[in-house]
Amino acid sequence: MASALQPLVSTCILLGPAGHANLGPVLMPHPESSPSPAPPVVEFEHVGLRYGVGPEVLRDLKLTLPPSSFHFLTGPSGAGKSSLLSLLYLSRMPSRGRLSIFGEDVAKADRRTLTLLRRRIGVVFQDFRLFDHLSVVDNASLPLRIAGRDPQESRTNVVELLDWVGLGGLLDARPPTLSGGQKQRLAIARAVVARPKLLLADEPTGNVDDQLAVRLLYLFEALHRMGTTVVIATHNMSLVERFAYPELRLDDGQITRLPAKAARLL
Ligand SMILES: Nc1ncnc2c1ncn2[C@@H]1O[C@H](COP(=O)(O)OP(=O)(O)OP(=O)(O)O)[C@@H](O)[C@H]1O
Ligand SMILES: [Mg+2]
Repeated sequence: MASALQPLVSTCILLGPAGHANLGPVLMPHPESSPSPAPPVVEFEHVGLRYGVGPEVLRDLKLTLPPSSFHFLTGPSGAGKSSLLSLLYLSRMPSRGRLSIFGEDVAKADRRTLTLLRRRIGVVFQDFRLFDHLSVVDNASLPLRIAGRDPQESRTNVVELLDWVGLGGLLDARPPTLSGGQKQRLAIARAVVARPKLLLADEPTGNVDDQLAVRLLYLFEALHRMGTTVVIATHNMSLVERFAYPELRLDDGQITRLPAKAARLL
């Protein structure tokens, strides 16, 4: 069976520098896609988050992210971007309000449901969170192992993906020997390798140059075109302008949804 990963890398190649190639014929349907209408991937209803007894860092958020949408998450340092993402990857629960992920009210979900939800989510953490004792290729393969896929069978595709992010020559290296930008690219490869239904990336291009940042964005764009819902927290406004997806702007704990930059200029 052809791996689900293969079209991801070939889609990136087709996207290339132009980024707007017609990809219709090369895209395989997502393993989980179905013709029936799907619920929103994310739904915030009056959600608030506070740490301990401190003030609310997120206040009364109301937001719906439909399947296959792509959003940038922006806002000044300390605005709450990482906090919002931590709600989405189910590391924290809202202090108030209702948060649904894939149609499940997270406050009512039992542990098994939360585990299954987490398996559908890929995360690029701001601080990478790699496993130092595992090689580059083993770190990148981890989500496939957790999903029960045969590591030998998927190795070729993992290597192809690592090649795409520029780590093809470092397959056996351990994370402590990598530069910040190399760690970041490994974290990205690990987040996308199992083609999650929801991809959350926290400042995923903060450690790489502009050219590489664009290349990595193609990877997220390729996933999005195959049906993944993507949320990317970033301070890099040139990427936000270049890729022209809508922006969720956080300020003082509240969110404003802005249309894609290009559309705003019309
Ligand atoms: N674990 C924590 N305990 C207490 N307060 C926290 C914690 N994590 C974040 N905060 C506070 O929540 C607010 C939002 O922080 P957060 O890290 O979400 O911002 P951010 O938008 O991701 O910032 P940056 O752009 O610098 O990454 C800040 O005031 C921060 O001090
Ligand atoms: Mg942050």
